[in-house]
Amino acid sequence: MNKTDIISTRNMKRDFIEDILKRTKKMEPIAEAKKQVDILEGKTLATLFFEPSTRTKLSFMAAMNLLGGTIIGFDDPRTSSVKKGETLADTIRVVEGYANAIVMRHPNEGAAALAAKFSKVPIINGGDGSNQHPTQALLDLYTIIKEKGTLDGLEVTLAGDLKYGRTVHSLAYALSKFDASLVFSSPPSLRMPEWIVADIKAAGTPVKEINNIEVQSDVLYLTRIQKERFPDIEEYQKVASAYVLDGDAMEKLGKETMIMHPLPRVNEISAEVDKDKRAKYFIQSFYGVPTRMALLAMVMTDR
Ligand code: CP
Repeated sequence: MNKTDIISTRNMKRDFIEDILKRTKKMEPIAEAKKQVDILEGKTLATLFFEPSTRTKLSFMAAMNLLGGTIIGFDDPRTSSVKKGETLADTIRVVEGYANAIVMRHPNEGAAALAAKFSKVPIINGGDGSNQHPTQALLDLYTIIKEKGTLDGLEVTLAGDLKYGRTVHSLAYALSKFDASLVFSSPPSLRMPEWIVADIKAAGTPVKEINNIEVQSDVLYLTRIQKERFPDIEEYQKVASAYVLDGDAMEKLGKETMIMHPLPRVNEISAEVDKDKRAKYFIQSFYGVPTRMALLAMVMTDR
């Protein structure tokens, strides 16, 4: 059966990404106006969140609402039959009968790919463990284009928890389809996994690894240290405050370096940074709505 699953940016083609970005541009005025249209009238989206979320879940819900569709789902697996021991495969085979597409977030790497194998309706990965968060990467690309006008020729620094951070894994792969160069900045214990670095280099993308955030890059993409993924809390505590972007650190940053963050933040960006014109993380989270509208319309109707 012909369906489009959105599972990973690793194998996404540049053409496909550019198509989504174009569709996102068309959706942006609708998201801005918060005025419902009928593109997905009569369609149902299921949102299955086995892990907490604010932005991904709510922006998918907002997107579906704006497109005129209906939403079902859960965001606390303890209130679903998962609690009784139902497998993911069975959950998916049931929910596909209730919905035209499924957005899911799951703590296990590979869960979305597994779901896609069992589902007759499109699966959209809203984050699978430390692996991938492809819709975040697409909205990140859209944000960069909106602010910088292009992706080609840019230097982007991905910083923070590059080991467990799924957003940076997805974004690194997505940027490797363009003529960007990448800087990976992390404490030594949280480096980008070797196999991802190897893939990115093999794609022809220049890569540098550093361990500070005093950069002059076009973009500094900071991430939270993913406390919930650490097997040992003491290991987390050693790196919890490794990077803090505050007023002093901002002085050492490039004057045109745009600051992004997938959010939520903990302590890695001080509130005093929010008013700086280089801080773009709140508009970045807004672009989640048109990006997800574009994705939903594409996978459910190809409009
Ligand atoms: N950026 C992101 O995935 O945020 P949530 O965890 O709130 O969905």
